[in-house]
Amino acid sequence: MAKQDLKGKVVVITGASSGFGKGTALELARAQAHLVLAARRADLLTELAHQCEEFGVQTLAAPTDVGDRKQVEDLCQSAVGRFGRIDVWINNAGVGALGKFEAVPLEDHVKVIETDLLGTLYGSLRLSAVPEARGGSAHQHGLRARPPHGALLCFVHRGEAWCSRTV
Ligand SMILES: NC(=O)c1ccc[n+]([C@@H]2O[C@H](COP(=O)([O-])OP(=O)(O)OC[C@H]3O[C@@H](n4cnc5c(N)ncnc54)[C@H](OP(=O)(O)O)[C@@H]3O)[C@@H](O)[C@H]2O)c1
Repeated sequence: MAKQDLKGKVVVITGASSGFGKGTALELARAQAHLVLAARRADLLTELAHQCEEFGVQTLAAPTDVGDRKQVEDLCQSAVGRFGRIDVWINNAGVGALGKFEAVPLEDHVKVIETDLLGTLYGSLRLSAVPEARGGSAHQHGLRARPPHGALLCFVHRGEAWCSRTV
């Protein structure tokens, strides 16, 4: 999507409180997109929302744990409730568990799966079921597989959901 096409678009971005997500949110605000900012740390989202609004766009800070299906559904509903539609959904929230596979605590592996895999799945499934998102643009999240990381690619485009996973 060209930068000028982003003007007025409604973009949901998960993992917006720091890192790539925060940087992307600020660039999208600069490009005049309206933003729904999601992550667990509410205080950072509020701060970022104010920064984005300085570019003249509207924002919604929506504290969300993407590993919780209900919270992802609420996020989707809040976005539609606030803006009436969703044009782009970016599944950016992610955590990593670095170390030798067997040395990483099981709960850390579980957290990676809950966040990176299930979080993306919940977002993609939910979005594909939302009429206000159909006919809109694409959402995407991709990580190239490189051991010891798995990779997941999910996107929704014009109401069709696609998902694949490599481990
Ligand atoms: N930085 C790199 O060089 C690099 C390289 C390769 C891969 N990656 C991967 O790319 C992803 C993002 O990297 P980054 O550097 O931007 O990391 P980061 O600064 O730690 O950002 C991760 C974002 O995901 C959010 N998040 C984590 N768990 C969440 C959950 N359960 N629900 C909602 N949001 C959640 C965090 O917010 P909250 O904590 O507020 O929820 C944060 O906003 C990670 O998976 C990382 O492993 C990074």
